Amino acid sequence: MLKKITFKKIVIIVIGLLLIFQLFRIDKTTKPLDTKTDFISVTQANSEVASILKTSCYDCHSNQPVYPWYTNIAPLSWWIKHHINEGSEHLNFSEWGTYKLKRKDHKLEECLEMIEEGEMPMTSYTLIHGNAKLNDAQKTLLINWFKSSRDSLKVQNPETEH
Ligand code: HEC
Repeated sequence: MLKKITFKKIVIIVIGLLLIFQLFRIDKTTKPLDTKTDFISVTQANSEVASILKTSCYDCHSNQPVYPWYTNIAPLSWWIKHHINEGSEHLNFSEWGTYKLKRKDHKLEECLEMIEEGEMPMTSYTLIHGNAKLNDAQKTLLINWFKSSRDSLKVQNPETEH
């Protein structure tokens, strides 16, 4: 016979599921910084630009993301890890030096677009990381840096096409 599902039972099931979720922990291994390939080192970014990049982009676009305490809590941790995986697959500043010239140029173009359109850093991230939100001065600094990095690529290879 079908028993009545009470609110209490639902609560117990939800808590049980959440407990089971905690067994599936995300991989938090980070790779050491390699100054031969890292964007900040390769492009010799000044400390202001470097600090903005580290605060606003490196948690998802580098091999050195910082994992705050709440990244221990599933299913939130899975969602965050998904962003980190996806972000660094698209663009990994730590591996900048391994990118071919054409790829570098294209990625810089995309960085410019993302910042100009206010799409990066992601809103879901800046809601929690208030300090990662870019103000106009920071946007200008980054945009200028990405532009001048693009220009120096052209000097390296004047035939770069867009
Ligand atoms: C919370 C994680 C997160 C942060 C922080 C973040 N990004 Fe992203 N970024 C992503 C994800 C996920 C994608 C891929 C999916 C998408 O395009 O929305 C992406 C895509 C991009 C792309 C497109 C790359 C491609 O090949 O399509 C660029 C460029 C980019 N981000 C630049 C930046 C810059 C510059 C910053 C800092 C100002 C930044 N992102 C901060 C998660 C992040």
